[in-house]
Amino acid sequence: MRCFTGEQLRSYCTQVLTRAGISPTDAATVADCLVDADLSGVESHGVSRLSIYLQRLDAGVVEKENRVRVLSESPAALAVDAGNCMGAVGATFAMKKCIEKAAQAGSCWATVKSSNHFGTAAYYTKMAASAGMIGIAMTNVTAKIAPWGSSDAYMGTNPISIAVPSEGLPVVLDMAPSVVAMGKLILAQKLGKSIPEGWALGPDGKPTTDPAVGRKGTLVPIGGPKGSGLAIFVDIFCGVLSGGEFGPHLNDLYADMVNPQGVGHIFCAIDISKFVPLETFRSRISQMSEEIKALHKNPGVSEIFMPGEIECRRHAERLEKGIEISDAVYAELQEIGARYGVSLS
Ligand SMILES: NC(=O)c1ccc[n+]([C@@H]2O[C@H](COP(=O)([O-])OP(=O)(O)OC[C@H]3O[C@@H](n4cnc5c(N)ncnc54)[C@H](O)[C@@H]3O)[C@@H](O)[C@H]2O)c1
Repeated sequence: MRCFTGEQLRSYCTQVLTRAGISPTDAATVADCLVDADLSGVESHGVSRLSIYLQRLDAGVVEKENRVRVLSESPAALAVDAGNCMGAVGATFAMKKCIEKAAQAGSCWATVKSSNHFGTAAYYTKMAASAGMIGIAMTNVTAKIAPWGSSDAYMGTNPISIAVPSEGLPVVLDMAPSVVAMGKLILAQKLGKSIPEGWALGPDGKPTTDPAVGRKGTLVPIGGPKGSGLAIFVDIFCGVLSGGEFGPHLNDLYADMVNPQGVGHIFCAIDISKFVPLETFRSRISQMSEEIKALHKNPGVSEIFMPGEIECRRHAERLEKGIEISDAVYAELQEIGARYGVSLS
């Protein structure tokens, strides 16, 4: 284990991505998105993804140049084509535009097509919450969940995040409709660990504790047909409404180094002040959090957490104490650093 500050990791990732051909502004956006995940304790979507991002840039399967363009725009809606550039670049552009337009129209939705892996959905909804708005973000991703009743993967582990501001930490739900995100299997495999039963099924449809076998099979949806239904609807928003790819027509981040991924996203910002005064909303969310946290705890439960509370607290703690990087991920970063002439110190 090695410990780094968020700033050290951000600067390292920005330099590497810039040397890989990304503009300094876009490199800083991607780096911030990755490091935010590590700060929040979502290591599966942090700097451990830098390696595959670089491999795809090197293979020419992700555009280095910023080709993000607005296809159509009205006061409360935006359709964006990300031009196959890095996921966080098109996604950040779309959420920033939603926040800007929601301040006028009251709310704004933006679809993004022809994009790539965008990291955590919470990264974008927290932007809206910081601006005193409600944020919603979803993305589709390579098929890894079977529709209820089948063993064939059709939908991705398409995550949904919703965030609201409070008087203190924002309340941030960020969840894949599978028991866990695929990133947790990828990280477990990288660290040589097994996974708990109930996370994944092998290609034979049987439960597995081997992350490599789970990666070849499917991930278990939450709540059976309900998780499967949620994954389908996220794909309808991100793949169908955006005019992009859906279901098995998306290509795999790791297995396909020839074709663009074809990822789609959707974002929404809602200006709270158009409904109730922002301060009233903030204080009522804080009241709700306090009431929930004060409820009777089940045996063995030491604290009740609001959605995102664990991640936001960890974020504050790691900003102060630093981020511990596993030996496997550190070795990967060192190898990348040597290749691009950037040292991580
Ligand atoms: N870009 C992509 O293609 C992609 C695909 C899938 C998932 N993801 C990301 O992967 C990350 C992990 O997803 P996940 O589904 O494994 O998340 P998770 O299961 O770790 O957490 C889901 C939600 O539950 C909340 N939670 C967890 N423990 C809690 C507790 N004890 N009490 C109250 N709330 C609690 C968390 O705050 C979070 O909001 C997310 O950031 C998601 O956006 C990205």
